[in-house]
Amino acid sequence: MHERPTALVTGANGALAASVIAELEDAGWLLALISKGPVERLRERYPERHAASVDLTDEGAARRVISRLEQDVGGFDAILNLAGGFALQAAAEVRLEHLQELFGMNLHTLVVATSAVLPGMLERGRGTIVGIAAASAIDGGARAAAYAASKAAVAAYLRSLDRELSAQNVRSLIVYPMGTLDTPANRDALPDADPSRWIATSTLASAIVRGMLLGPRARLTELKVWPDPS
Ligand SMILES: NC(=O)c1ccc[n+]([C@@H]2O[C@H](COP(=O)([O-])OP(=O)(O)OC[C@H]3O[C@@H](n4cnc5c(N)ncnc54)[C@H](OP(=O)(O)O)[C@@H]3O)[C@@H](O)[C@H]2O)c1
Repeated sequence: MHERPTALVTGANGALAASVIAELEDAGWLLALISKGPVERLRERYPERHAASVDLTDEGAARRVISRLEQDVGGFDAILNLAGGFALQAAAEVRLEHLQELFGMNLHTLVVATSAVLPGMLERGRGTIVGIAAASAIDGGARAAAYAASKAAVAAYLRSLDRELSAQNVRSLIVYPMGTLDTPANRDALPDADPSRWIATSTLASAIVRGMLLGPRARLTELKVWPDPS
């Protein structure tokens, strides 16, 4: 019998995570889940999983929690960095506190979690690092200067990681949702918008998992996923 592939999923209480977790578990993966909010919420939603709560911008605490999960699961084949967040402000109003907040949520969480699992992946000789960027990381966005900069930084970090480590079989996949995701939070925030024009999280999750598993003898490094209203 084959060993089950294993993954750490951050932002596990989030909307995209629900679809990604379902997709990976359907494919037989063994998962460890991290959220920032109370671990009870995560355990209620995903009973009998390896789960923990930690603020991934608290580097020391995050490393301790991830090391424990890594021991529980027996090492990670992949990390799916789904923790992140969004805020808008006019370009002229961007202050350091906005950069700290957005880089904290999007870049720092990803770098802290990824660097915590890298030594184990390098030792095992395999690993896939997934990060979620955004359309504005490529094209920019009105009132989104700080957010776009933080997502562009995510892409630059993962591209560099891939350059450095792909020869050791540790690779990255940058995912660009090229539109709004159809999530409960976006439906609440944009009640007048038409959600049929948004990307279904289940379709995005299936693209991510297929992208991670592409092969043999070819792989994906970047994945743009566009809305396709029907
Ligand atoms: N929604 C969109 O339209 C859209 C578009 C483009 C890209 N994205 C990106 O796609 C990813 C998933 O989006 P989503 O809509 O599923 O987001 P979501 O529902 O808001 O989930 C994101 C999760 O990140 C976690 N998180 C935030 N800061 C954290 C920290 N410091 N430490 C640990 N966890 C932290 C939160 O955990 P708790 O709930 O436990 O607090 C939250 O559940 C994000 O990276 C987002 O930026 C989303």
